[in-house]
Amino acid sequence: MEVLEDIRSDIAEADLSSPEAVESFRVKYLGKKRGLIVDLLKKIPEVAPENRRAYGQSVNGLKALVEERISASREQVEHRGYRAPVDVTLPGRLPAIGTLHPITQTRDAVLRIFERYGFGVADGPELEDEWHNFTALNFPSDHPARDMQDTLFVEQSVDGNSGVLLRTHTSPSQIRIMKETSPPVRVVVPGRVYRNEAISYKSYCLFHQVEGLYVDRSVSLADLRYILHMFARAMFGEDVRMRFRPSFFPFTEPSAEVDIWFPDETGGGRWMEILGCGMVDPNVLKAVDVDPDDYSGYAFGMGIERIAMLRYGITDIRVLYENDVRFLDQF
Ligand code: PHE
Repeated sequence: MEVLEDIRSDIAEADLSSPEAVESFRVKYLGKKRGLIVDLLKKIPEVAPENRRAYGQSVNGLKALVEERISASREQVEHRGYRAPVDVTLPGRLPAIGTLHPITQTRDAVLRIFERYGFGVADGPELEDEWHNFTALNFPSDHPARDMQDTLFVEQSVDGNSGVLLRTHTSPSQIRIMKETSPPVRVVVPGRVYRNEAISYKSYCLFHQVEGLYVDRSVSLADLRYILHMFARAMFGEDVRMRFRPSFFPFTEPSAEVDIWFPDETGGGRWMEILGCGMVDPNVLKAVDVDPDDYSGYAFGMGIERIAMLRYGITDIRVLYENDVRFLDQF
């Protein structure tokens, strides 16, 4: 019994301050082969019968004490900051991923809307010739838009048709499409366009447009108004305010510009022009060998930046080209 008392104090005082110490303590007392407690239990037959009961109880008490110390110190060690090498309960770290540019997102949103109305999506070159950009679109040879002041020429014009330029609008794609396919045609053409313009909060030297073209038998101005109304509602919501203003383009007759009401924080707002449109001029149809007595069509060209500005409440177009991640991160 005295030996047991010594063992009890050894157990009570053992240093269990590290996981390694706890483990050797466990092996020392509870180890299956040479553990001290197991040894003591094996000795029961050697104990005088009248003492066996008390002996057995004491050894079991020692065993309980060993177990108690182990579990207490394990808890303590864990509280002191010991952790398993991987904490599977931690939330994962998100990898830094980019987002689509607001112009791309807006362009895609525009295309999705027109796709629902059966428009296909086509493409055209940014480097264009003067004939497609101007002549075939019924621009007179002395039209001011052909001037170097407005248009970025890559190769000077000699005859008013052969000059090479950065397209000033997506409308030359109307010509390319009608030359390739015969009516009915119903397409939208997104793309980048260039103008030699003074840069301000609402204009930049390059921007993006989506051209729309629908040519078939008996297409009317009412069809044009219908599609643009449906577009505006899908894009800006049911209670969008929209107006048609009579306008002029050499390649449409009649022509109009469409404005959307851009409310500001003060409760006021202003009209913002988002597109030009009209009925395809008979001269344009003739330039691509479509008989204007058989066919009619409408066309429109909208500015993606303007739509993005309305959509996201952007007040200066230039932020769209600065690639500042503090701006881009918001989309
Ligand atoms: N191309 C014209 C522009 O850039 C817009 C437009 C397209 C107008 C089609 C009428 C028809 O301003």
